[in-house]
Amino acid sequence: GKNENLIASDIPAILEYTRDVYFLNNGEIAVVKKDEVMLYDEVLNPVNRDVFTVEWDVSQAEKAGYPHFMLKEIEEQPRALADTLNPRVKDGEINFDEIGIDDAMLAGIRKITIIACGTAYHASYVGKYIIERFARVPVEVEIASEFRYKNPIIDQDNFVIVVSQSGETADTIAALREAKSRGAFVLAIANVVGSTIAREADKVLYTRAGLEIAVASTKAYTTQLMALYMFALKLAYAKGGITKEEYHTYVAELQKVPENAEKVIQNKELLQKFAYEHFTEHSVFYIGRGLDYAMAMEGSLKLKEISYIHSEAYAGGELKHGTIALVEEGTLVVAVLTQGDLIEKCLSNVKEVTSRGAVVMVVTQEKYQDLVKDVADKIVTVPDAIDFEATITSIIPMQIFAYYMSVQKGCDVDKPRNLAKSVTVE
Ligand code: AGP
Repeated sequence: GKNENLIASDIPAILEYTRDVYFLNNGEIAVVKKDEVMLYDEVLNPVNRDVFTVEWDVSQAEKAGYPHFMLKEIEEQPRALADTLNPRVKDGEINFDEIGIDDAMLAGIRKITIIACGTAYHASYVGKYIIERFARVPVEVEIASEFRYKNPIIDQDNFVIVVSQSGETADTIAALREAKSRGAFVLAIANVVGSTIAREADKVLYTRAGLEIAVASTKAYTTQLMALYMFALKLAYAKGGITKEEYHTYVAELQKVPENAEKVIQNKELLQKFAYEHFTEHSVFYIGRGLDYAMAMEGSLKLKEISYIHSEAYAGGELKHGTIALVEEGTLVVAVLTQGDLIEKCLSNVKEVTSRGAVVMVVTQEKYQDLVKDVADKIVTVPDAIDFEATITSIIPMQIFAYYMSVQKGCDVDKPRNLAKSVTVE
């Protein structure tokens, strides 16, 4: 700072006073005086480190007229998605020069493990679907807290991706170290520049969501999806899984996502109305198949963490193996039906719940509205897209619904009980 120096556990705390920071590594010591900072390693050798200048704007740490950070961050998604994608598109293709990953390296990948927690885990699940479908590389998705204690089968043949908004989640850091100690190459998809995960991974693909303050992750999640789509398409092309023409088409379609996200956000009053009609629910089920199941998991997490309403996500076909016993007259079921090849199958699951009296809210693409209108009590549409790319926008109505459910219930939207933004302990 000016005529002062400050110590903090995270950047937003000091952003008002300075943008120049030193990051400390484990075991390092800082001697901080009013006009001097000296760094030492654990055996007191002096450490020379460049000052890191934070690029965030101070306004990003303020609500800027919004009632909650969560709503502000939901509405920032079109910008965040464009910032994550556009600088990495060159001649219609994904360019990772900045990251140091080229097609020859990607072509050599034979198996992938993606590791994360919470919302980042849900994003990883989407990554698995699209990588396996287009690049035909087998992908394991692991919860970081499970991975670290299971004596994982991982070696130098594994390409590991860790996904983390904060880059400081204790379990994900431990998993990254475990993977590296076994010889795996680790790519981090992280949002916070200079965070532990970003520093310790072999390569980093930064999401450019900007500062996310609300505990419930929104723009970090959709930008993680964007990063995983970029990686998956680039990998698929390097592996010969898609043609050049398909590659260009899919990338061009990704570039429409920010604009589509904006259209969904403009429709938020409808979701506010639905939330007003449902905020007294005790239990809500989310169902979907394939990519829609991954979106259902994230939609359900959003609702439970900020509105404290019990919620579960199920793969549509699993309902009849037990959970359907909980569906009764009036139970709200959110059905995510954005994937044309699975709509018929999932519609039969929707009929299973409506015949037991459930009230069904369907999230679908505009082009599938007619297919679902007979079974849906409420329909929320997202703009048409190539099906597998409609997922990024399809989560936004569920974020907005959860937000208004929380507001209606009078909950602390940005700081829900029992939760922390970064889980830096086990
Ligand atoms: C999401 O809304 C959560 N608050 C939480 O699940 C979060 O995604 C998880 O703790 C992982 O955090 P990270 O991305 O910072 O590693």
